[in-house]
Amino acid sequence: MGNQKENLWGGRFKEKIDEKFFFFNRSFEFDKKLLAADIRGSLGHCRGLEEAGILTADESFDIQAGLLNIFEESLENPDFLEDGNYEDVHSFIETQLIEMIGDPGRKLHTGRSRNDQVATALRIWMRDAIDEILLVLKETQTALVDLAEEYSGTILPGYTHLQRAQPILFPHWCLAYFEMLRRDSDRFIEAKRRTDVLPLGSAALAGTSYPIDRRAVAGFLGFAEISRNSLDAVSDRDFCADFAYAASLTMTHLSRLAEDVILYSGTEFGFFTLSDRVSTGSSIMPQKKNPDSMELVRGKSGRVFGDLLSLLTMLKGLPLAYNKDMQEDKEAVFDADQTVTDSLEITSIVLRNLTVDARKTGQAATHGYLNATELADYLARRGVSFRTAHETVGQIVLRAIELGVELEELSLDEMQKLGPEIEPDVFEAISLEQTLGSKNAAGGTSHQQVEAALAEAREFLEG
Ligand code: ARG
Repeated sequence: MGNQKENLWGGRFKEKIDEKFFFFNRSFEFDKKLLAADIRGSLGHCRGLEEAGILTADESFDIQAGLLNIFEESLENPDFLEDGNYEDVHSFIETQLIEMIGDPGRKLHTGRSRNDQVATALRIWMRDAIDEILLVLKETQTALVDLAEEYSGTILPGYTHLQRAQPILFPHWCLAYFEMLRRDSDRFIEAKRRTDVLPLGSAALAGTSYPIDRRAVAGFLGFAEISRNSLDAVSDRDFCADFAYAASLTMTHLSRLAEDVILYSGTEFGFFTLSDRVSTGSSIMPQKKNPDSMELVRGKSGRVFGDLLSLLTMLKGLPLAYNKDMQEDKEAVFDADQTVTDSLEITSIVLRNLTVDARKTGQAATHGYLNATELADYLARRGVSFRTAHETVGQIVLRAIELGVELEELSLDEMQKLGPEIEPDVFEAISLEQTLGSKNAAGGTSHQQVEAALAEAREFLEG
């Protein structure tokens, strides 16, 4: 267990750390995930120190070789990160470095603090995490477009209030989720832009007292910008909240998709069949096949919202600058990252193995007066005001319900009793083809619009 003398900061301490507090304080269990990022940050700092003439070329060489050694050891030896009672990943790396290369290792921390160090490592980690999320987001979008193309002619009832509303093309439904994920990608790209700022050189809070060329260090580490205020830089975790917010909205979208899939694959709908590969059975009811994959995606959205709220609450009311509260940022960010990545991947697998029953969806899309709006539009085109047409069609629907038929199954005579403006061409006007075909303004569900939207989506994915 950590003896004060073994810590990086033991000089002014006389007593041994309380055992319970040692474990409460330590973050190594989870921040070891930052090992590669922290080593990169240290490599950048080392070069900055060398260029400023603070380290000799030999010292810098030894430090960089040592750091790379630690990185290799972490890849090769699974026990490497298990062992020891280190306070955090930064102490771990520095202690290992000193053990490995001796005195030059003790110079690496010149001109920096763990405060700018941890902020740098987390930003380096997050840039990569966002790149990976962007890839899985794209993969889920591809699964949606592939599914849309597989069922390009399939008709689906569109709902509002979960009541059948108007028929749509199945690809239109797929592309609705595609659009949500496109915005999610945008949000992650934006989060990455704000993450891509180097805090290193801010030291503890006041800025470093060594003539380090921060822009050059940013260049080594591939950062687009350097932070402008040291006090802000060490205590800014906005980028974590941005990240968790982007992840939260992604999860919101995935949970809506999950809900649609769960509903549509339920017995009452019977539109979709989930693959056995992403379903589970019941321990008592032999007939059951449950959509657990989608239920978990829906359920896990709550965790990510929790992560966002943890971050906001942790930051709220913190005095400047660094406070240990901030150590709590990591688990929230790591959890949001893992959960959104897993959920996207599982959703892709579900979509890639989904079967759509076009007969059932087509049946549902043509039963329940989903063409009533079309009939009102027909009357409106004949000069009846839309409000009056709406009223008239309402009465025609009531009459059809009484007779137990669909609108197109009513006789012309029956329709004309309520709407004298109706003529024989009404049947063509309220046909399924026409109901879909008339939605031909940009963004609508006509075959023509959906085909163009699919082509644009493909192009987006390839671009
Ligand atoms: N483990 C700490 C964190 O994650 C590192 C920074 C510690 N700095 C300090 N002054 N105690 O935030």
